Amino acid sequence: MSSHPDFLPTGRPTVGHRRSYGELPLERRFGVGVVGLHEGHTLLVAMRASGLCLPVAGCDLSSEKRAQAEDACPGLWTTDEYDALLARPEVDIVAVYTPDPLHADQIERAFRAGKHVICTKPLVNDPTAIPGLLEVGRASGKRLQVGQSTRFGEPFQRQREQFEAGAFGDVEMLDAHYHHRMDWYYEKSPWAVDTTHWAYLGMSHPVDLARWYLGPIREVHAYGTVTSLASEFGMKTPDAIVANLLAESGRIGRVASNFGFHELPKARALIECFLMGSKGTSLARYPDLRYTFHDAHGIEVEEDYHHSMAGYYYRHELKGMHYGEFCNCLDYFASRLLSGEPNSPDLEEGLGTVLLMGAIVESLETGRSVRVPTLAAPRP
Ligand SMILES: NC(=O)c1ccc[n+]([C@@H]2O[C@H](COP(=O)([O-])OP(=O)(O)OC[C@H]3O[C@@H](n4cnc5c(N)ncnc54)[C@H](O)[C@@H]3O)[C@@H](O)[C@H]2O)c1
Repeated sequence: MSSHPDFLPTGRPTVGHRRSYGELPLERRFGVGVVGLHEGHTLLVAMRASGLCLPVAGCDLSSEKRAQAEDACPGLWTTDEYDALLARPEVDIVAVYTPDPLHADQIERAFRAGKHVICTKPLVNDPTAIPGLLEVGRASGKRLQVGQSTRFGEPFQRQREQFEAGAFGDVEMLDAHYHHRMDWYYEKSPWAVDTTHWAYLGMSHPVDLARWYLGPIREVHAYGTVTSLASEFGMKTPDAIVANLLAESGRIGRVASNFGFHELPKARALIECFLMGSKGTSLARYPDLRYTFHDAHGIEVEEDYHHSMAGYYYRHELKGMHYGEFCNCLDYFASRLLSGEPNSPDLEEGLGTVLLMGAIVESLETGRSVRVPTLAAPRP
């Protein structure tokens, strides 16, 4: 019996039912090869609940990470060479979970190798990579899913269902945030200090939610500051950021992140999406499995999924790795590959979000409002 903690809980909902995306016999499932086996390890474990995908390969430079992956996934083929993973015929989908600056090159190589791709957020952290990725992606005929995990949490799926059913009418204003004290992250992943920007690394969650509900964003204005925690770790770019958004539709939103504050988890969840619509209002939270809205009589209703779903989403930990979100996202992508329907966020939608995050950085640097470029006319 493995000593790895992933083996302890069952990973099944306690009393509820997980969302179903279909089920295939083992021999017909999509083979998934994962590169980057820290957050990618979460995906390997999450696949134990999958009905459509199987882990077949793992790649990491670290022998310790590879050993942990083999432990969690007996029989998994592993390597420290990405090209060797890409050469495996049983890999149908490449899952990219390496540090942000590596994503663009690894996605491009996966497309060239004829693979579908799921890539964690941020899709890329450099808008100059966009034209090349669009060209290779379009020429490959393969599909990409951005691993925007937050969308796939139970409260956020419930919020979306109600939105699509018209419960909130037109979303006139959105307020979304991701606040999380990150000393542990700088210690674990020192690359976060100087090879990316929090506007990409962390703000990708609320920025994606804003585009999901408001559609294309026309203009952004952002302010930022470097917290004392970030200064201690040597960060030079802001880790506390607030950005006002004006959508093409004329609707408005605010996205905010603070990665150096002292958390107050009962008062504010790490991630929140607050929708204010012409017909109604709602609030989805992460990691809390709580969703709040009001019914047709204005009565405030709170759905609480902790008892029913914590087994699936967190493998019974109160606050832990988000296995259920990852499994939902991967199975959703696989189900769209099978049906031929479009998936979201796909390559183009994901790159649109990258352009918006790039505009937030430009506004932080210039102090001015920035018009968000469109994909049709990407900046050189
Ligand atoms: N909600 C989410 O979906 C979520 C949460 C956390 C992190 N992330 C994203 O996941 C990515 C990885 O973050 P992390 O926290 O796992 O980082 P990490 O530093 O803990 O792990 C990165 C892993 O990639 C490996 N690696 C580095 N270069 C490699 C290469 N060239 N080939 C193969 N392996 C290589 C490292 O050895 C390490 O094990 C980042 O882009 C981050 O933004 C997403």
